[in-house]
Amino acid sequence: MTLILGIETSCDDTSIAVVDKAGHVLACKTASQVEVHEGYGGIYPEFASRAHVAAIIPTLEATLNAADVSPDDLTAIGVTRGPGLIGSLLVGLHTASGLGAGWGLPVYGINHLRGHLRSALLEGGKVNYPAIVLLASGGHTLIAYMKDAASMELLGTTRDDSVGEAYDKVARMLNLGFPGGPIIDQVAKTGNPTTRFPRPMLGKGFEFSFSGLKSSVRRHMEKTPEAHVPDVAASFVAACMDVLIGKCKAAIEMYKPASLIVVGGVSASPQLRAGMADLCATKGVHLALPPQKWSTDNGAMIAMATFDYLGRQADLEINPNLPIGVL
Ligand code: KG4
Ligand code: ZN
Repeated sequence: MTLILGIETSCDDTSIAVVDKAGHVLACKTASQVEVHEGYGGIYPEFASRAHVAAIIPTLEATLNAADVSPDDLTAIGVTRGPGLIGSLLVGLHTASGLGAGWGLPVYGINHLRGHLRSALLEGGKVNYPAIVLLASGGHTLIAYMKDAASMELLGTTRDDSVGEAYDKVARMLNLGFPGGPIIDQVAKTGNPTTRFPRPMLGKGFEFSFSGLKSSVRRHMEKTPEAHVPDVAASFVAACMDVLIGKCKAAIEMYKPASLIVVGGVSASPQLRAGMADLCATKGVHLALPPQKWSTDNGAMIAMATFDYLGRQADLEINPNLPIGVL
C-alpha cells in the first residue's frame, strides 16, 4: 500500500497526515494557533513560525500513533513549499528534509494550492474532466479551467483582497472575533440580508475584487452604528455568495465542464456549499467538494497532492508566491 506523510505549515496551522492512494485519511492531527493570534485579529508571522517549531514534532508523533504506522510503512513525504509565510514554510520544509534523510524516504515540495485542489479527492471524492475550479481561501480567490487532470488554465484571480480575508476583516469590524469565516457564517444564519451591498465585478469576466465590498460594510457601520449585526453579516454573506456563485455559473456556461471543484477555506461555508449544490443541480454538473473538515488548511490535502508528484524531480525550494499553475 502506498502511504504518504503530508506536512502543512504554510500559515497558522501545523498539520500532519497519513493518506493512502484512494484518499483515505488514516490520521490527520492539527495544532491550531488561534490562541496565539486572536489578540492581533490576524496572523503574526514571527509568532507563527515559533509556534510551528514547538508543535511540529509532537504533531508528527501524534499522527503516526493515531494512524498506527511506522516510518517503514511510508512511501514518501510531501511538504508545502509555498505559497505562504516564509518562516512558517521553513519549519515544515526543514523538518521534512531531516525526516526524509533519517528515514531514507523521498521528500517532495508541494504547492499548497495543489493541495487544496486535491482535497476534493479525499475520502471517496471524485472529479470528472474537464473541470472548473473555484479556490476561495484566506490567501487566494481564483477560478481556473482544467481540460484534464494535468492541465491548468487560470481564468481570473482577485485584484485586491481574497474572499476569506474579507470575511476575516468584516468579522473584526463587527467585533465577532478571529478567525472570521465560521463566526460570520453562524451569525449570518440568525439574520436577514436587509442591506444590499455591492456585488463587485459580477458579470464582468472572471476577476474578483473584495476590498470595495469590505469598505461598504465599514461605511454602513459608520453611518448606522445601531445596525443589527446578524443582518449585516447576512447581507455581507449574500453579496459574497452572489459573486462566487455567479462567476462559477458564468464559467460553467462558457466551458461546459463535467465537474465544478470548490475548494479552499471558504468552501467550509454551509451557505457556499448549498449554493453551489443548487447551481450544479440546475446545470447538470458534478460538484466536487472536500469533506467540510478538509476545506481549511490541513496535512491530508498535502499528502493527497503528493501522489501527483511521485517519480518527478523533487523541488524543495521555498516560494512564498507559488502560482497554481506550477506543480
Ligand atoms: O484555506 P485556508 O484554511 O487558508 C488559506 O490557504 O488561506 O482558508 C482560510 C480562510 C480564512 O479567511 C477563513 O475565514 C475562511 O477560510 N473560512 C471560512 C470558513 N472557515 C474558514 N469562510 C467562510 N465560512 C467558513 N465556515
Ligand atoms: Zn490554504
